[in-house]
Amino acid sequence: MRSPTPRATSRSRCKKESVRRREALRVVANESVGPYSLIRVERGSLDPGSPGQFFMLEAPGRLLPRPMSLCQAPPGELSFLLEPIGPGTRALAAVEPREKIHVFGPLGNGYRLDVERPLLVGGGIGVAPFPYLSAVLGSPPAILGFRSDWHAEAASLVPNAEVVVEPTLVTERLRPDHDVLACGPEPMLEAVRELAPNAQLAWEAPMACGYGACYGCSVEIDGVLKRLCVAGPVLEAA
Ligand code: FES
Repeated sequence: MRSPTPRATSRSRCKKESVRRREALRVVANESVGPYSLIRVERGSLDPGSPGQFFMLEAPGRLLPRPMSLCQAPPGELSFLLEPIGPGTRALAAVEPREKIHVFGPLGNGYRLDVERPLLVGGGIGVAPFPYLSAVLGSPPAILGFRSDWHAEAASLVPNAEVVVEPTLVTERLRPDHDVLACGPEPMLEAVRELAPNAQLAWEAPMACGYGACYGCSVEIDGVLKRLCVAGPVLEAA
C-alpha cells in the first residue's frame, strides 16, 4: 500500500461498523486473471463489511499477513484479487483449493456510498475492490487503466467498464459531474485528485497489524501523523 501526501484529508470519511474476526477459511479456488490471482475462500462467520474495507490475509508458513481489499462477496464466499510481486503475495498466490488461510477483518474505512453519479476509476491491481463496490452501487460506469492487455484481463471482473491501456491514462477519460471513487497507484490518485477534488481515494501503505496497534502505516494527514489502517484506507481528496 502507498502513502497519501499531506493534502489528503480524513474529513467525511466513511465508517462501517462491522464486527471484525480472525478465522481460518478454506480456499475454494485460486484462479488466474491475467497476471493476477483471484483467491476465493469460504466466508465462514466473517462479515464482508463495506466496499473499500480490507482484510489481513496470512499465507501458510508466512509470519506477516498482507492487507487485501475485498474483491467479491458472493453468498458464502469472499474473494481477493492480488498481484504476486513479493514473498508474501507470491505465497498467497500459491495456495491450493482445500488449504486454509487465516483471514482477519473487515478493517478500516470503505467508500462513502451516498453518491448520486458514481464513476469508478482504477489502475492496475487498484481494481481489486471494484467488483464488490460495483455490485453494491448497481454497476455504475468505470474507467480502468492497465499497463498491458494481459493486465487488462482483470477488467472482466468489473461490469460496465471502459478499459484503457498505456500510454492512454484514465485521467484522459474522466467525465465531469460524476462522483469519482478511485483506487490505484499513487501517481494516478494524485492526477485524479487534481481533476476531481471531491473524489474518494483509496490509498496504500505498508501494514503489519491492520487495526491501529503497530503504527507501521503512519502517514501525515492534515499535518498530523495518523494510521492509514484506522483513518483510511479511503480518504476524501480535498
Ligand atoms: Fe498497524 Fe496500521 S497497520 S497501525
